[in-house]
Amino acid sequence: MPSRTLPALLLIVVLAAAVGVAAGRLIDDATWTPAVIGGIVGALIGLLATAFLARRGRRLRDGSEAQRISGLPLVAHVLPPGRNETERRRADEAFRMLRAALTFGGEDADVVVVSSAAPGEGKTTVAAGLARAIARAGRPVVVVEADLRRPGLVAALGLDATAGPKRGLTAAIVGGVAVDELLIEVEPGLHLLPAGELPPNAPELLGSDDAGRVLDTLVARGGTVILDTAPLLPVADTRELLGHEAPGQVILVARPGVVNRAELRDAVGLLPVGTPTILAVSGRAHTPRSYDRYLRDATPR
Ligand SMILES: Nc1ncnc2c1ncn2[C@@H]1O[C@H](COP(=O)(O)OP(=O)(O)O)[C@@H](O)[C@H]1O
Ligand SMILES: [Mg+2]
Repeated sequence: MPSRTLPALLLIVVLAAAVGVAAGRLIDDATWTPAVIGGIVGALIGLLATAFLARRGRRLRDGSEAQRISGLPLVAHVLPPGRNETERRRADEAFRMLRAALTFGGEDADVVVVSSAAPGEGKTTVAAGLARAIARAGRPVVVVEADLRRPGLVAALGLDATAGPKRGLTAAIVGGVAVDELLIEVEPGLHLLPAGELPPNAPELLGSDDAGRVLDTLVARGGTVILDTAPLLPVADTRELLGHEAPGQVILVARPGVVNRAELRDAVGLLPVGTPTILAVSGRAHTPRSYDRYLRDATPR
């Protein structure tokens, strides 16, 4: 907590206690008991309020703060598939922005690792949206559900996570099952490698030579390989994954209101030095209304 906010938080506690005392005196000014109880209750409420405010104060505020703290280029404000036409257009365009910021080329696949500091920041949303955007540009893409703790990619791609085969990435790593047998075609040019059965030792599995071989097989197929990964701070999984030969490019997702500034800074510190990394912020950018009008009027459907 910055030292200049401490006096302000103390003031809130004192004021809340004073209001409690005043309320106690109003209820009964003959004895001091209600005033004392009121003071204690007020101070407690004040303490709770300050704890809440202090917590909120540590959260990341917006894209420009994310950019300043991470030192990474902010290439897109990404959004989940919208509820109405404007939101859908905004979301589609954001994933095109992200696609345009990546570098593609060569015979081998371009590997794109999507990660973030904390859970719930929008990694899976980004992996799914980006995969669709790349496939729609005519480039083959395999998107891998490499978060073996809380996989959500199958659902994010609109497939039924409860139906279908339970085999996936882990069967390829542990059981040596051929990747081609495990891929699911989501739409033309877009394949999904689901997580499959979740292991008790995800970091060891993802860091193993067998995982490296699975990655090599995917890379040899060409196109783009997108890895939807676990958050960087709570578990070692993504660090292990990034240790393989083909780290490619990293998209660090940051979601204001969900991640703390310090967490974002720590996550950047965990990325391998020299890996090209770009920043995508989950949430709406503060853009003028004219952008929406431009999108609506200038985009034939
Ligand atoms: N930009 C965003 N704005 C609002 N909600 C979002 C955004 N991105 C993701 N979400 C929602 O937040 C939840 C977590 O997103 P998800 O992509 O699964 O995060 P992660 O994979 O990082 O845990 C989902 O319900 C998703 O719809
Ligand atoms: Mg996820």
